[in-house]
Amino acid sequence: MRTASAYDDLLRVPPDTTCVGREIVIFDVIDSTNTYALDHGGDGLVVVADRQTAGRGRQGRAWHSAPGLGLWFTVALEGLAEGLSFAAGIAVRDALAHRAQVRVKWPNDLLCNGKKVCGILVEHRSGRTALGIGINVHHRPQDFPPELRARAGSLESEAGGAWNRSKVLRAVLTELDRTIMLLRTGKVADVHRAWVEACDLVGRTIRCGDLQGRVTHIDERGALVIAHGGARHILHSGDIHVVTGD
Ligand code: BTN
Repeated sequence: MRTASAYDDLLRVPPDTTCVGREIVIFDVIDSTNTYALDHGGDGLVVVADRQTAGRGRQGRAWHSAPGLGLWFTVALEGLAEGLSFAAGIAVRDALAHRAQVRVKWPNDLLCNGKKVCGILVEHRSGRTALGIGINVHHRPQDFPPELRARAGSLESEAGGAWNRSKVLRAVLTELDRTIMLLRTGKVADVHRAWVEACDLVGRTIRCGDLQGRVTHIDERGALVIAHGGARHILHSGDIHVVTGD
């Protein structure tokens, strides 16, 4: 059952897009918008929920999806889309840029004032893709579980001012439509290049656990290629710290 939601204006005036958001379903509560998208499919379908009871993050982690505080949604796509997580990172950054200085942090978080305000999770099942995006919007520091407080932030806590989730969603869907269309018209390399530039890691020395070395490039799957003592390491994910810059 669904009560009047923060997103109803998107149903009244749908986003002006080619594919993303051609159908929108809104839930008060759901287990995970990604699960719904993988179960039901539908190219361009957008699934939004006010609350998730089993929101998923990357690397098997749970995603804190408190009711009413954040923007929890998934875009369902048919087939695999090479470069999708890059397209998503760039799209969210650009959608927020007019009000917040948001930067892409490898492997695909978005930070504002050094705090994570957005996470992206791409999942595939049986030829379907779910692009899940979680954006913390209204949270105050005390709204996050204690273990997340040092690292997590929201648009309101970090960029300030009042934010409207529906407006944020409309802006993100518009940008996502643009970047996904770039992928679908063969411009994967351009999207990858923009994302690599946004990560701003090439040439920098980074540390991840015991590994320290210089990032020589970021490959087409988004992995860091690191030179260290004559050896080459490939890093697919992890918590990295920049030691020195160029
Ligand atoms: C991460 O940074 O670990 C990725 C977080 C992705 C969270 C979003 S919220 C909407 C969608 N549904 C989910 O279950 N997860 C994603």
